[in-house]
Amino acid sequence: MNTAIHIQNVSKKLGKRQVLKNVTLDVQTGDIFGYLGPNGAGKTTTIRIILGLLEADSGNINVLGQDIRLASTRMKIGFALDPDGLYNTMTAVENLQYYAEIYDVPDSAARISKVLEMVGLSDRADDRAGTYSKGMRQRLSLARAMVHNPEVLILDEPTAGVDPTGQIEIRKILLDIARVEKKTVLLSSHNLDEVQRICNRIALIDRGEIKMYGELKDLRQKMGRSSIVVEVSSDISESLIDNLKQQNRLGFFDYSSNNFFFESGEGAAEVSDIINYLAGQGVKIEKVGRREASLEEMYSTILKEAETV
Ligand SMILES: Nc1ncnc2c1ncn2[C@@H]1O[C@H](COP(=O)(O)OP(=O)(O)O)[C@@H](O)[C@H]1O
Ligand SMILES: [Mg+2]
Repeated sequence: MNTAIHIQNVSKKLGKRQVLKNVTLDVQTGDIFGYLGPNGAGKTTTIRIILGLLEADSGNINVLGQDIRLASTRMKIGFALDPDGLYNTMTAVENLQYYAEIYDVPDSAARISKVLEMVGLSDRADDRAGTYSKGMRQRLSLARAMVHNPEVLILDEPTAGVDPTGQIEIRKILLDIARVEKKTVLLSSHNLDEVQRICNRIALIDRGEIKMYGELKDLRQKMGRSSIVVEVSSDISESLIDNLKQQNRLGFFDYSSNNFFFESGEGAAEVSDIINYLAGQGVKIEKVGRREASLEEMYSTILKEAETV
């Protein structure tokens, strides 16, 4: 797998606010990557940094292995942001022509009619953008992002402000674009349901920090599993992990910086067995708890917390 967008330890302060804190994630070629988070989490800031519209205070970013400041990199990226930058007094075709010239698109008339068809706007091609509904504007922005046939599409909340039917249309278009046109897509969204419908990989950002990152199906599986969580204060060594893996009866299935996760529920090990085993291995135990979270539960907790900040 090749990395399409690489973001490593990116931090950014805006005014007095630390808006991004060591954000690290990779978007792989062929992903429809969902950048999920509540309003104010830092999605747009990250996207602006990827696009080179804003400079990070620290960290590394590249797109397709290239520096974003190079014109040759920018040619390979299409993006749609809010505000959409469409000219209200120009027709859809004229808006696209304008961008086709900037990007020096060969055979632009044919490409423009193709992208309009992709987004279902062929029959409205000669109407002014100012007469478009929000959903149509979002689709025209998408067409514009595609006009120079980029490899990577970066879309900031592509369905925001669109009614439910319009959202469904846009999602379908995005899936088609990714599949048929073989584009890598990074989209941001505050809507978990949307991300689950169309994305294969996700990152969840909350108050500038990545809280979760990976294949959607792995995350769902992991989150869906209720577990016993043992928090430790000693270092987790590789040999300890190996030993734990061999103790099938304990139901060990994952670990993070200072937590061990064990299966819970019917047929699972007794908590006392787990603790005794870990203690026998010289592990210092801080806390033992249970986790019942699903992805939905976790996200709704984050949304509630975000509202109160
Ligand atoms: N120019 C700015 N100056 C100060 N704070 C800003 C500025 N732009 C955005 N912020 C703050 O940065 C945080 C993240 O914003 P943003 O990246 O737009 O979040 P999202 O796109 O996830 O809603 C918010 O708390 C927002 O208020
Ligand atoms: Mg935003």
